[in-house]
Order: sequence, then C-alpha cells, then structure tokens
Amino acid sequence: MSSSRYAAITGWGMAVPQQVVTNDDLAQRIDTSDEWIRSRTGIAERRIAGPGEFTSTLATAAGREAIERAGLSPSDIDMVIVATCTPDRPFPATACAVQANLGIKRAPAFDIAAACSGFLYGMSVGTSMIQSGASRTLLLIAADIFTHLIDWNDRNTCVLFGDGAGAVVLQATEQPLGLISAQIGAAGEGETMMAVDAGGTRMPATPDLLDQGKQYVYMNGREIFKHAVREMCDSAKQAVAEAGLSLDDIRLVIPHQANVRIIDAVAKRLEISMDRVVVNLDRYGNTSAASVPIALYEAVQQGRVRDGDYLLLTAFGGGLTWGSSVIRWGRP
Ligand code: ACO
Repeated sequence: MSSSRYAAITGWGMAVPQQVVTNDDLAQRIDTSDEWIRSRTGIAERRIAGPGEFTSTLATAAGREAIERAGLSPSDIDMVIVATCTPDRPFPATACAVQANLGIKRAPAFDIAAACSGFLYGMSVGTSMIQSGASRTLLLIAADIFTHLIDWNDRNTCVLFGDGAGAVVLQATEQPLGLISAQIGAAGEGETMMAVDAGGTRMPATPDLLDQGKQYVYMNGREIFKHAVREMCDSAKQAVAEAGLSLDDIRLVIPHQANVRIIDAVAKRLEISMDRVVVNLDRYGNTSAASVPIALYEAVQQGRVRDGDYLLLTAFGGGLTWGSSVIRWGRP
C-alpha cells in the first residue's frame, strides 16, 4: 500500500437473528438429514430472520455495537458503507436506512454489492476513502438476509445459508494498522454460476416468473466449490506477498464461511494448520457478506487476536467475486 495513511479497525460489532433453525428442523420439512448437512458442509444450525428483522435492522445493531466499542458516538462517523446483496429495498441503498437509524447526520452512505466477498471489497473501498482524505472515521457494515432468496423446497441451497451482520469502524492513522494489502477480483463470465434471475431490469418480476420460482437463488455448487478454493488460495498468497510477509507471519486466517470442506482445502493448500483458521459456520451457516466480519468479531472476543497480529481475510462469492486482505490488528 503506497500511502502512509492507514485505516485502523477501532471498533467491531455483530448481530444475528433470534431464531435458530437446526439441521433436524430442516429435515422435518425437506428430504435431507443432519448427517448429510454436517458431513458435506460442516453446518449444524443457522439463524434465520423473523418478522421485523431485515437487513437494515441487523446492520444497524452491528454498526451501533462497533461505534460503541470504538468509544465513539454516531456523530463521529463521516461515511457509511453497507456491503450487501440483499438490500431492504431494490432502491434506495440500505446504507441510507442505517445512517438514519443511527442518527449519523449528513454523512455519505452507499452500498457495495459483491455477494460473499462484500466485506473484503468494503475494506478496500473504505481504506481507500480514508487514504484519499475523503473520510477519517468510517463505518463499514456487511449484512445479508440471504435466506430471503431461498426456495425452501430446494435442498441444494436451503440448507447452506443463514442471516447476519458484522461491522467495523475504520479510523485514519499514520501507524501501519488495518488493511496492509488487498487483492480483490471478479470473473463476470461466471455471473450465472450462482444468481437470482427475476426482480432486476433484465427480468422484472411478474406473477408468472414468481410462480416459476425465478426470484430464488440457484447455483452450480460443485463448480463454485472449485473456483472458490483456487481463487481464495491465489489471492491469499498474493495479498501476503504484497504485504511483504510469509504465511508463517499470519496469526489467524479468517475465511468466508461457506463450507468447511472449502476451508479445509484452502488451509491445506496454504499449508496452514486448522488451529490457525477461524471456523464458526457450524452455528451460522453461510451468512454471505457478513460471514468474515462475524468470524473476525468472534475471534477477537475469544481473545484469539492480539495487538500487532497479522490476520489473513479471504472470501469468494457470486459474481463471481473474491478478495483476500492482510490486516494488522491494533488500535492507534
Ligand atoms: N440433503 C441431502 N442430499 C442432498 C442435499 C441435501 N441438502 N443437497 C444435495 N443433495 C444430494 C444431491 O442431490 C446429490 O444427489 P445425486 O448424487 O443423487 O444427484 C448428492 O447429494 C451430491 O450432491 P453434490 O452437489 O455433488 O454435493 P457436494 O458434495 O458437491 O456438496 C455443496 C454440495 C454443499 C453445495 C458444495 O458443492 C458446496 O459447498 N459448494 C460451494 C457453494 C458455495 O460456496 N456457494 C456460495 C458462495 S456464496 C455467495 O456468493 C453468497
């Protein structure tokens, strides 16, 4: 990173819905089993939004906690970014609702849509905003209610996802903290490997399309699996090299929580033992953009992260999109 200005993570927060849905709960509704879901994905249960819980409410709760942990008040925040692919409304940005909910007056607010890679994209954009001088104290939230896009009769997808939000406060500093290196990328030719067809300008939702279930997500799980392992590993190695480090310097890897077999494969290829990898998808499933900041939050709260530690964040998602970053932990 060329600038001498950095963006330290000074606050962190998370929020998940109240309702817990176990694999056995799902097995009562569709042709699946706890054994299949656990062995193929590592997931045991997930949180699913109920009435009154939507993307902005989870995002607001996570954001509020992050601001409090930073020892700040909402009036100190000068920019709000929400990474989500499941906004409250198709228009306007969910970040505007969050900005209003938190009482952050007049600060610019916008969304980033990069599916499960949203937090990684957000860290790059947010840090650049601070390096350019456009912001000094920025709230970045990654929030998704991905279960909104789920066909609950499709066992290929409905067992995989959960809902949640994770947030960080980024603050300008001259000390080398926060994002040290970042590699983000996309392969748009894989756009339909995982997608929702109806509801956009290309295929506006009609009663007929809704009857066909075109408002739900579909994906080619096996192909995504292969791409995810390759791109997470390649971008992770590039991010570590760009930071001038080796993988031995990384205290913890915080990967996107889609499937424990993807995480195992990434750790194996990077030759990092699983005790240096954060895994919490057993309790939350794949929470899309929120998965990396929720895993980061839990690692910090569990005392697994110390000041000065280098963390490797890596994610992959629909788009296709991916990103890896090296973060240096600590407050200025
Ligand atoms: N319960 C029981 N059986 C099932 C279930 C289920 N829930 N789902 C699928 N099966 C069956 C299939 O029908 C298939 O049966 P068949 O052989 O008779 O056809 C069999 O299990 C094997 O299916 P596969 O698709 O080969 O299973 P696989 O081991 O590949 O696991 C999975 C599927 C979990 C989806 C895996 O491919 C995966 O995790 N892929 C990556 C997904 C991912 O990361 N997506 C997200 C990016 S997230 C984002 O951008 C928001």
